[in-house]
Amino acid sequence: MSASSSDREPSGFPDGFLFGAATSAFQIEGSPLADGAGPSNWHRFAREPGRIEDGSTDDVACDHYRRFREDVDLMRRLGLRAYRFSIAWSRVLPEGTGRVNRPGLDFYERLVDLLLKNDIRPCVTLHHWDLPAALDDRGGWRSPEMPRWFADYARVVVRALSDRVPMWTTINEPWVIAHAGYMTGVHAPGRISLPETALVSRGLLLAHGLAAQAARSEGARSIGLVVNIEPKEPASDAPKDRSAAARADSYMNRQFLEPVLKGRFPEELSSIYAEAWPRGGEADLITIHQPLDFLGVNYYTCGVVRHDESAVPDRARNIRLPDRRYTETGWEVRPEGLAKTLLWVKDLCGGIPLYVTENGAAFPDPDVAPEEPLGDPLRVEYLRDHLQAAREAIRQGVDLRGYFLWSLLDNMEWASGYTKRFGIVHVDFATGKRTFKASALFYRRVIETNGGALDEHEEE
Ligand code: FCB
Repeated sequence: MSASSSDREPSGFPDGFLFGAATSAFQIEGSPLADGAGPSNWHRFAREPGRIEDGSTDDVACDHYRRFREDVDLMRRLGLRAYRFSIAWSRVLPEGTGRVNRPGLDFYERLVDLLLKNDIRPCVTLHHWDLPAALDDRGGWRSPEMPRWFADYARVVVRALSDRVPMWTTINEPWVIAHAGYMTGVHAPGRISLPETALVSRGLLLAHGLAAQAARSEGARSIGLVVNIEPKEPASDAPKDRSAAARADSYMNRQFLEPVLKGRFPEELSSIYAEAWPRGGEADLITIHQPLDFLGVNYYTCGVVRHDESAVPDRARNIRLPDRRYTETGWEVRPEGLAKTLLWVKDLCGGIPLYVTENGAAFPDPDVAPEEPLGDPLRVEYLRDHLQAAREAIRQGVDLRGYFLWSLLDNMEWASGYTKRFGIVHVDFATGKRTFKASALFYRRVIETNGGALDEHEEE
């Protein structure tokens, strides 16, 4: 049901719009082996020479495992209405299956209770890329057993928390797990294989479906999937660039969305993966195509695509253009792409409620914050422009229920280590000290005014 103009405030955001922030376990928690936790695939990957840009590990990260009370207090001071975080599977099931490690689960119970006490709605991601290393040893996402292992894990977590957690998501960005983990090898487990990527993609889809069923049977009230979407634009009008952009769109944007929400595989996948793409699978599609309560969309940028014979698998490359603006991760700043994305998803998937589950940017911030607030005008501008785009999408009829910015804290940006700062709260990684950036105060004002601050005159 979309918000009618009458229940919308003048700011353009519906009443009760969930302004939140997002993080993930591996990126912030630290203490990876504390209280009986098992190692994760990323814990191990980070220790392989050359995998992480600055040679760093997850040993401390933001030390959130020990400082979570302080972090919830930061959220309270910012007025966050919701907090999206993930559960480390290897804390709950150190071997990946079987024995439950009670202290691991207790940590998340304490976190959830504290959030609720502060009126912050917990939104839990079951899998945000960190997998028990023990399961990687058994084939990880390549194993036909994985979907069932994931559903069993989902059951344990949802059983413990569903009385208090109102919003669940199964998997964060399955495309990145498959593509970066198995096609390009820049993420754990660092494999490079097109046939494996096809297998993993199918495994992730089935895992999502089985976990959604399991979560629902354990009392999850609202369950969704989080996908990352990047509008793909051809670099030129040349037919090769146009079809490269269309293939890239189906590989990145529709590979997971269409099976899950439409009950079909995009046609182009069988040509992208060629004979590696498993034939048949109609029975799986029934499980994959579970009814969902909402869809989470992560949006960062648009891709400008050029045909490239050498590129695997889609013979397409994202290119940079000289006169455009880019963030520290090399992603083009394209706020209008957010509205475009949300409208595109609405057209493709119909009226399913949407959340922006991630949106944010890395810009150069110093390692030590000299004062509070630390000035970060580029991030303030980024957030303002993207929130305005989200509001525009609502105006155009998108049933958008919330926006989670990435990220609450500067954190370990996967293979980039601590070199990219996405937080609205600065973290001094030597001391753990937290300092509000100007973007944090700006976001607080946006929340306080239910979006009205987006129209205030720029003070920076
Ligand atoms: C997304 C990930 C998130 C973070 C941001 C910058 O793809 O979901 O963990 O790394 O990118």
